[in-house]
Amino acid sequence: MKGIILAGGKGSRLYPATRAVSKHLLMIYDKPLIYYPVSTFLLAGITEVLIITAKDQARSYQALLGDGSQWGIRFSYAEQESAAGIAEAFLIGEEFLDGSACALALGDNIFYGAGLTGMLQEMAGRTSGASVMAFQVNDPQRFGIVEIDADGNPLSLEEKPANPRANWAVTGLYFYGPDVAEVARSVKPSARGELEITAVNQVYLERGELNVVRLPRGVTWLDAGTFDSMLEASHFVQTVEKRQGLKVSCIEEVAWRRGLISDGQVRDLAAAFNNEYRDYLLSLLDQPS
Ligand code: DAU
Repeated sequence: MKGIILAGGKGSRLYPATRAVSKHLLMIYDKPLIYYPVSTFLLAGITEVLIITAKDQARSYQALLGDGSQWGIRFSYAEQESAAGIAEAFLIGEEFLDGSACALALGDNIFYGAGLTGMLQEMAGRTSGASVMAFQVNDPQRFGIVEIDADGNPLSLEEKPANPRANWAVTGLYFYGPDVAEVARSVKPSARGELEITAVNQVYLERGELNVVRLPRGVTWLDAGTFDSMLEASHFVQTVEKRQGLKVSCIEEVAWRRGLISDGQVRDLAAAFNNEYRDYLLSLLDQPS
């Protein structure tokens, strides 16, 4: 399965911080925001990744992430002219996908917790229909919302409803069969002029092909799109890392644990840093994995 990370948008909710720097390059505690969705893909077993940035921004992402070979990943890059909607990712990425099943991750979504890897791998193993993850929230007006019956089957979907029927938010990580570009092309822009991901998911729901996985309490999902949510995410990562001495979404660590890079490569990567991040990478090599 191939993966697309959507890291475009103007980030205008974060002005002036994002006037000169793309939001997904800002840091969440000890690493850039984009590291989190890249790690999520690695956990899911996805190593062929298209990064879609805003216009004229790809170069900054390339400077940070390169071609991915240092982590056993293959990155390619594309730009989105304007923030015309999340589902446009499938049209921009159509050539990259070349008819394969795919996952889409929003560049500002962070996942962490017990059992997550198994769930991700299960979803990445599906090759048709659509699979999304739902997370219980107390402010459902801010998200795409899925209503679910007692057996876990989806009943309805709504994008940022004024009067939500449920408090299950659809998270920014989606898995689709090879027909997703075709489905994206069939949906019409919404009242706010965007190709909505919820409209794409609605097509699968109507076909009876939408699979919803509810995230259990032990898994945390955060989206970092406002001043407060960025700070809260930083504090969350800091708290977990300080308490356990284990990093959250450390690409180098995940790549090493998955056998994508060798001990020697970890040493080389660590040599480029001169800080606690370097010490952490080197300490991995002394531990039983
Ligand atoms: O975070 C989960 C939510 O993400 C879902 O529950 C919603 O259904 C979904 O619409 C989306 O809502 P947001 O309000 O968070 O979307 P936002 O416009 O903030 O965009 C999310 C990310 O995608 C953000 O990092 C910017 C990027 N983006 C967004 C659009 C619309 C792009 O790169 N291009 C775009 O055209």
